[in-house]
Amino acid sequence: MNTVKTLRELRAVIAQARADGKQIGFVPTMGNLHAGHVSLVETAAQRADFVVASIFVNPLQFGAGEDLDTYPRTLLADQEKLLAAGCHLLFHPDVTEVYPHGMGDQTRVSVPGVSEGLCGASRPGHFEGVATVVTKLFNMVQPDLAVFGEKDYQQLAVIRALVQDLNMPIQIIGAPTRRADDGLALSSRNGYLSAEQRNVAPALYRGLQAVAEQLQRGARDYARLIDEAQARQREAGFAPDYLEIRNALTLRPAQVDDRHLVVLTAAHLGSTRLIDNLLVELPAQ
Ligand code: PAF
Repeated sequence: MNTVKTLRELRAVIAQARADGKQIGFVPTMGNLHAGHVSLVETAAQRADFVVASIFVNPLQFGAGEDLDTYPRTLLADQEKLLAAGCHLLFHPDVTEVYPHGMGDQTRVSVPGVSEGLCGASRPGHFEGVATVVTKLFNMVQPDLAVFGEKDYQQLAVIRALVQDLNMPIQIIGAPTRRADDGLALSSRNGYLSAEQRNVAPALYRGLQAVAEQLQRGARDYARLIDEAQARQREAGFAPDYLEIRNALTLRPAQVDDRHLVVLTAAHLGSTRLIDNLLVELPAQ
C-alpha cells in the first residue's frame, strides 16, 4: 500500500489505476482507525478493484472548544490496519494541501434540510465543514463508490443529499455500525473515556434499544418516550444533548404513521460527546 501526501501524487496513482480499467472505491476517515473503519475498507474492497482511503483531520468541521488539537493521530497503526483490510492507496494530506489558500475564503458546501437539527444544532458549522471536505476529497479521488458508517447517520444523509443535489456520479454505500460486545458503538472518541466512564457508556445503546422496544410494542407518544429515555440517560450519568425519533429516510421528525424510524442520540459522558442511533422498522399497519 502506497501512502501519498500530495494531490499531484494522488492523481498520478489514480490515473494509472483508471488506465488499468479499475473501479475506484473510497473511504474517507480522520484516522485513529478501529474495527468500524476496517469494515468500511473491507466493504470497499469487496465492491471495487482499487481502494483509496484518506486520513485527514479536517479543521473545518471542528467548532471552537472541540477536540481538533487532541484528536488522536496514529498514522503507523492506521497504515497497518488499512493494508490488512485491503486498501491500495492512502491519501494523507497536510492541511495546506487541502486548504492551500486557508479556510477563510474557502468555497463552502452547505446541505440544507438534513443538516439541520440533531448534531447540526449542537455543532454549528460542522456539517458545512464535512460537506466541504467530502466534496473536495471526492473531486480529488474521483471514486466510483464511497463507503461511510451508519454510526454517523446524519452525516451519511448529508453526503447522500450532496451527491444527489450536485449530480456527482458516485455510489454512496452505508455500512452498519460496529459495536463492542457490550453494545457500545465503536468510535475514535471512546478512547477519551476513563475506565469508569467506559463501563457506563453502553447504557447509551441500551437506552436506544429500550425506545425501539416500546415503539415495536405500539407506543406512539414520542415526546414521552424521549423524556423517559433522557431521564434514564441522566440517571446513568450522561448529560443528554439530544434524543430524537425521526423518519429514517427523510430525517424529518417522525409522524405517528411512519414505519421506517431511526432513534438518534448524542450525550456527554464527562467531557466526551458520544453519538449513536438505532433503526426501527415497524410492521405495516
Ligand atoms: O466521519 C468522518 O471521519 C469525517 O467526518 C469525514 C467523513 C472523514 C470527513 O472529514
